[in-house]
Amino acid sequence: MAKTKTAFFCQNCGTQYPKWTGQCSSCKQWNTIVEEVVQKEEKRSWKSDSGSSKRTSHPLKISEISNEKELRMDSKDLEFNRVLGGGIVPGSLVLLGGEPGIGKSTLLLQIALKLDYKTLYVSGEESQKQIKMRADRIDPKSENCFVLTETKTQHIFQQISTLQPELVIIDSIQTLHTNHIESAAGSISQIRECTAELIKFAKESNTPVILVGHITKDGTIAGPKILEHMVDTVLQFEGDRNYVYRILRSLKNRFGSTAELGIYEMQGSGLREVNNPSEVLISKNEEDLSGTAIAATVEGMRPLLIEIQALVSTAVYGTPQRSATGFNAKRLNMLLAVLEKRAGFKLGAKDVFLNITGGISVDDPAIDLAVVAAILSSNADIPIEKGVCFAAEIGLAGEIRPVIRVDQRILEAEKLGFATIYVSKNNKIGLKNSAIQIKRVSKIEDVVRELFG
Ligand code: TYD
Ligand code: MG
Repeated sequence: MAKTKTAFFCQNCGTQYPKWTGQCSSCKQWNTIVEEVVQKEEKRSWKSDSGSSKRTSHPLKISEISNEKELRMDSKDLEFNRVLGGGIVPGSLVLLGGEPGIGKSTLLLQIALKLDYKTLYVSGEESQKQIKMRADRIDPKSENCFVLTETKTQHIFQQISTLQPELVIIDSIQTLHTNHIESAAGSISQIRECTAELIKFAKESNTPVILVGHITKDGTIAGPKILEHMVDTVLQFEGDRNYVYRILRSLKNRFGSTAELGIYEMQGSGLREVNNPSEVLISKNEEDLSGTAIAATVEGMRPLLIEIQALVSTAVYGTPQRSATGFNAKRLNMLLAVLEKRAGFKLGAKDVFLNITGGISVDDPAIDLAVVAAILSSNADIPIEKGVCFAAEIGLAGEIRPVIRVDQRILEAEKLGFATIYVSKNNKIGLKNSAIQIKRVSKIEDVVRELFG
């Protein structure tokens, strides 16, 4: 009988060792190295069970390779298409990561139900009944969506060869289990092996596969980093579970840009595509409220108008509180120091709370000026006029600095009917004759004078 082969794997980063050690030399974590069975004496191929042969490829001159535009499968979901760079590429492997309960299964089931292609949705987590219940909530009736509850890859491939689906969805990679390896489902070597089998299947049959991957506490996709290297595209679904907005980002994309971004709203009947995010992120208050300002930001490639709210009040305790939601707290402190030192506002004894509405978080420095405007508006208790928005960074000397993609921001503000936008005096603007009034400022005092008289 052949000896079972084992090896030691770091459960954090996936590095393989011939023997046990206390600390992983690659990621420096302690006690993460675990022995796993690597291989049973069997042929390893996704088709080995059905016994068919493999297709071999041969070298081609680069000039001989046809560069016809890659055909893409329309997922019928504008946001999903946008993030993938125009649709699903046949034969590609897409990994969708996200925290538990964020809506990964909902998103993929919804896409499977809308598609015109024959889709196999494999779940290792929920029963067919549970999936049916979810599908009833989402609603579109589909004759093309097949559901399978299975965790063994060999069984899945058997079903695939009889059903011949045009798209396979696996929910989730951590529940899969292959016969060729003995360790438990979810272990590093299982994840790696199952993914390798799926890649082989996808490339040989030209069928796209979408995998769901769980996320660990520190926000990385559970399993080895190599999982991300193996797949063609890594998508991340994120958002605050207490809010309805969800953002779909691409972290890696072999077939498109990673700067694209999709926005969804979680509703009782599934996820709604938000094709015009700025309209929903800005609240439509009739009365003027002090302490709110609108910033023209850019997320990925998309211009986005967001609302910033600030509350400045006299500190009750000796040490004033500073808290920021959706904005970097250190940057808030820096802006407050600039206001104090460069613009002469005495905020040292005030509590300052800052919030970006909609539960989104932004790290675009171009929202600095809107943050400062919101703080000053709350401090003076004077509302900022309606129809005003801001796009500029603030430097340590109190100067208002130019930002990238200013034209795009101005256009978006104009599209949404804003009357005035404040930008830096030094920002080069390519736009000609726009309907929006562009106010160019160089110091915080200029803005204060304009806004509060
Ligand atoms: P789910 O897709 O199960 O998350 P994941 O697969 O990422 O773990 O989403 C679960 C949450 O979404 C759950 O808390 C309920 C909510 N939800 C809705 O609000 N509306 C819906 O139509 C559906 C199907 C789920
Ligand atoms: Mg799920």
